[in-house]
Amino acid sequence: MAVLRFPPDDRVIEDESEIRLSLAALGIDYERWDLSRVGADASADAVLTAYAREIEQMKQRGGYVTADVIDVSPETPGLDAMLARFDKEHTHSEDEVRFILCGRGVFFLHFGEKVVSFEVGPGDMLRVPCGTTHWFTLCEDRRIRAIRWFQDTTGWTPHYTDSGVDQAYQPLCFGPAYLGTRAAKSVSA
Ligand SMILES: [Fe+2]
Repeated sequence: MAVLRFPPDDRVIEDESEIRLSLAALGIDYERWDLSRVGADASADAVLTAYAREIEQMKQRGGYVTADVIDVSPETPGLDAMLARFDKEHTHSEDEVRFILCGRGVFFLHFGEKVVSFEVGPGDMLRVPCGTTHWFTLCEDRRIRAIRWFQDTTGWTPHYTDSGVDQAYQPLCFGPAYLGTRAAKSVSA
């Protein structure tokens, strides 16, 4: 279940249609997609085949040329380095489009003076337009599997803003263990 939060005033939206409207007002597409096509242990190829229709439709919507399945777990080699690439505020020169198959994570989206946090989970499809200032982190189980779409076969690169805004926000889906790690990092930094 997705959760949209507005950290400064503790406003929380959990209703699907309200989330969709709120994100649409910010230029972000959000939809709930059927998850029953494949089992949790399906191969990447099986996932791409099962969602071939949606993948093709999304390609046409956004001019994307390819799609793949990203699969991240605590066992993923170099996970910390991978997460560190994206948990600092950045933009991309192409859209960030994800359909979450399993796991959870939080997108922080920064518009002017406003930051909203959007916790996504299985069944959530999110389309963040190119140039949107944002950062992303996983929840405490450090697990996510998602279909991604790309406009350029070379993939996408984070362009860091170096604003430091990300340091002021804790992803609420994390438990005390995460807060401890974050605190330890700030102490040692
Ligand atoms: Fe990103």
